[in-house]
Amino acid sequence: MSVILLIIEIIIIGGMIVGLYQKNTNLMCKSKRRLDGKTAVVIGGTAGMGLEIAADFAHRGAKVIIACPIEEEGQQAKKIIIKSSNNENIVFKLLDLASLQSVRSFAADILKTEERLDLLINNAGVGTPGDFLTRDGMNFIMQVNYFGIFLVTMLLLPLLKKTGTESEPSRIVNTSSVMHKIGRLDFKNWNKVGYWYKIQIYGNSKLCLLVFTRELAKRLKGTNVVVNAVDPGAVGTKIFQSAGVSFGSFVTFIFMILFKQPWEGAQTAIYTAMSLRAGQVSGQFFKNCQLNKNFNIPYDEETLQRFWNESIECVKL
Ligand SMILES: NC(=O)c1ccc[n+]([C@@H]2O[C@H](COP(=O)([O-])OP(=O)(O)OC[C@H]3O[C@@H](n4cnc5c(N)ncnc54)[C@H](OP(=O)(O)O)[C@@H]3O)[C@@H](O)[C@H]2O)c1
Ligand SMILES: *[C@@H]1O[C@H](CO)[C@@H](O)[C@H](O)[C@H]1NC(C)=O
Ligand SMILES: *[C@@H]1O[C@H](CO)[C@@H](O)[C@H](O)[C@H]1NC(C)=O
Repeated sequence: MSVILLIIEIIIIGGMIVGLYQKNTNLMCKSKRRLDGKTAVVIGGTAGMGLEIAADFAHRGAKVIIACPIEEEGQQAKKIIIKSSNNENIVFKLLDLASLQSVRSFAADILKTEERLDLLINNAGVGTPGDFLTRDGMNFIMQVNYFGIFLVTMLLLPLLKKTGTESEPSRIVNTSSVMHKIGRLDFKNWNKVGYWYKIQIYGNSKLCLLVFTRELAKRLKGTNVVVNAVDPGAVGTKIFQSAGVSFGSFVTFIFMILFKQPWEGAQTAIYTAMSLRAGQVSGQFFKNCQLNKNFNIPYDEETLQRFWNESIECVKL
């Protein structure tokens, strides 16, 4: 009993310290840029920070396509965005990042129906809901947080390239996390089940997303597409629900009170999509609406090439 009390105290006190720090350092995106005539895809734009990012773009006049795997949640989010922005040009599409098939049909649908794509926001992600294999034979958390994002980005690249211009490049923004710091790049075991702690798989997936951003930026040099990653900070959303039924509800409740609100957490992604400065760099990592200059990918060229090759093989591209 006293152990449980101790854990509860640690969570509340730890949450207060992190929350205070977050609130004191959080900056807002001040850009007034309009997006009339532009198209944005926000993957995971139906809840938490993604919903805030999508609503922000809708306010700026963009056509916004939001995507998630739950129909009712998507339709509900669409209604909320239209109501708050008075912008009717909001589309919901079903997308399950945990299925290569679903990613392929989603991308094919976009390529068929859309004339342009100015912004791709890869915000979707899961916490630690479980350690199991998907039908595609990948670790679920890795497939949603990294491989699915990798594939959808690669498939949408032609449209992003077509849309970008030198003065206004199209932009890709990936949501990583501070947890990338515990991440490991281990090609042999990255899709294994029962091998890692779940939080480690989450860290691995977020590290992969960062390495992907850096590597993709390299490969996009000379095109009018830039790709950057963001760390939103600690944000009170339902992602913490995945820590378990009662424990998850408890930490979610505490973190929703103490951490940043989703609209605050969304600011860095919005900044990276909107600000002039962020449009001029690629392969970078932003935090609190600022470039993180200390961001470093400590891998040699061969490892990076292997990372790319193995990713392509996993998603059967
Ligand atoms: N909250 C934090 O403190 C924190 C910190 C660092 C990084 N992040 C990252 O920020 C991003 C947004 O997280 P959040 O905190 O706003 O969480 P959230 O409220 O749970 O939102 C996650 C979004 O991703 C979607 N999604 C989940 N599984 C998906 C799948 N298989 N296919 C397509 N979409 C899927 C969700 O749709 P459904 O609701 O339909 O599942 C939802 O729209 C994530 O990448 C997360 O890792 C969060
Ligand atoms: C960002 O997303 C793009 C498209 O999915 C991907 O190519 C790139 O590697 C990602 N970058 C990071 C840092 O995750
Ligand atoms: C990656 O694939 C490319 C092209 O197929 C190949 O030339 C290269 O040697 C591979 N690199 C590694 C490290 O696997």
